[in-house]
Amino acid sequence: MCGIVGYVGKQNATDVLIDGLRKLEYRGYDSAGIAVFENHKIVIEKAKGRLDNLEQKMEETHRPTGHCGIGHTRWATHGEPSDVNSHPHGNERVTIVHNGIIENYQQLKEKLEHRGYSFLSETDTESVAKLLDYYYSGDPIETLQKVISAIQGSYALGVMFKDNPGTIYAIRKESPLIVGVGKGENFIASDVPAIIKYTKDYYLLDENEIAVLTQDSVHVYDLDGEEIQKELHTANWDVEAAEKGGYPHFMIKEIHEQPSAFRNTVSPRIIDGLPDLQLENLSDEQLKTIERIHIVACGTAMHAGMVGKYVIEEMARIPVDVDVASEFRYRNPILGKNDLVVIISQSGETADTLAALRLAKQQGVPTLAIVNVVGSSIAREADSVCYTWAGPEIAVASTKAYMVQLSVMYLLAAKFSQLKGTLSENEVRSFCGKLMEIPDLLETVLEQADNCQYFASKFQNARDLFFIGRGVDYSLSLEGSLKLKEISYIHSEAYAAGELKHGTISLITDEVPVVAIATQQALYEKMISNVKEVKARGAKVLLICREDAPEQKDITSYQLRIPLVDDILMPLLTTVPLQLFAYYTAVLRGCDVDKPRNLAKSVTVE
Ligand code: G6P
Repeated sequence: MCGIVGYVGKQNATDVLIDGLRKLEYRGYDSAGIAVFENHKIVIEKAKGRLDNLEQKMEETHRPTGHCGIGHTRWATHGEPSDVNSHPHGNERVTIVHNGIIENYQQLKEKLEHRGYSFLSETDTESVAKLLDYYYSGDPIETLQKVISAIQGSYALGVMFKDNPGTIYAIRKESPLIVGVGKGENFIASDVPAIIKYTKDYYLLDENEIAVLTQDSVHVYDLDGEEIQKELHTANWDVEAAEKGGYPHFMIKEIHEQPSAFRNTVSPRIIDGLPDLQLENLSDEQLKTIERIHIVACGTAMHAGMVGKYVIEEMARIPVDVDVASEFRYRNPILGKNDLVVIISQSGETADTLAALRLAKQQGVPTLAIVNVVGSSIAREADSVCYTWAGPEIAVASTKAYMVQLSVMYLLAAKFSQLKGTLSENEVRSFCGKLMEIPDLLETVLEQADNCQYFASKFQNARDLFFIGRGVDYSLSLEGSLKLKEISYIHSEAYAAGELKHGTISLITDEVPVVAIATQQALYEKMISNVKEVKARGAKVLLICREDAPEQKDITSYQLRIPLVDDILMPLLTTVPLQLFAYYTAVLRGCDVDKPRNLAKSVTVE
């Protein structure tokens, strides 16, 4: 939700800010803006729409030149996308960019209006900008300290004071912000891709810390104004990882990165043929005592959890509940002393997921986070972390992050099976061996891209579409359907195939195609019966099945065959054609694949 970048150094700040914002557009893209110190003044340029609009506007009017500035790309929460609601906000004395939500902005606004301030925008952010101006005493740190104690909600703020040209101030609470440390230049950013071209070194700003950046120095202070020594982190990937690398979209690049993402995540965690998740603060003895697992996540990460439920229950016979984080946090969940809460999140910053984690911790239940972004809030707050090594995922629709989340579900299932003794050591070894073969098989599945494009061309004009499956294939149907909806805007529903006839089959006509996922041998015949039911109502069917499944030419229009692995591993391979199908459908429909309308990748508001 919104991307922030700030730069101070010798380069042209506008160029660096625009470049950084381009890398952060996945966080929101309904308007953009920058503020740059130019001739001792803060010059603001902003525009509704994509970053290109801002660029064009500056071409036609004024492109600020200077060496210090802050920038923002917005996902609207308070106030529609418009020039006036775009960030930066403020006046000639103090200017800010903000990511998050100020919950008490109405009260602040009323208070400030009484003191003579007038508001131009509908945003919550403007109340902070005005409050900064109101408290400004000539001492930026003192002013920020006062503001921190007056505002409620979540925020990452980049701030510039006119009296301090060449200096950027930053604070954060519950919204991510890093401080990039370069040579003769320094940065703030919501995420590493914005700065990776310039530096790999960064500090993670903690809550209630105030960062002060000039071109030659970075100082971080606590709320009492005491300087803090921060630990320097170094990104373990480079600039190519955040570029499209010849692919037309990040999404297709990331789909193709899945074999290596899987390998990077799984190989280091199979030691001497057995699973070893190397979980700090969560010993094998502790894991052995776990009697129930709660997986909590949002969106695609939650769908990975659904596959996890199936796999862990099947292999380790431990009951697993899967919850949407926004429901879990408000439903007073029953958590027992031998429970484990597993939090899954690509970004590690999703507001509801973070709140669910905090709730579990408050109740004293051990928490394990499966997170892709190193040092993110969820990673830092959970008792134990298992990082997925997917590298940066830029496309809004998650693909490779889902794949590695799945891979950790399988590792956990193997570990619990070993600890609980539901599988013998030899069986666990054999399972781990099969996991290690997955990357090569993923390469084979990726060779089906042309087929997926062909199927997409056949279904691209559908208004509605169904995905059906049974067992673990139902969990995949949910993800396949979400992917298609997110990026192609075709309405689709995922249904447990056996449930279809309890009402929803009334929607099936010859204009509503069905993608039937039938990779589970024990359920295959049942699935074929369901396929016959929809075929009888006129539906065109794409059947996704095992390579050795019988021909079903009379009841299906198209078939896509998945290489043979154990049924339980099938989801890992079957995911890929679903992603490719959604991708090509969106491309054929002319959609903006990487930046679908109304969505943002990192949802840091409730
Ligand atoms: C957003 C994204 C989804 C993602 C979900 C959870 O809705 O668009 O792709 O699955 O958030 O994000 P997380 O970072 O917690 O995995």
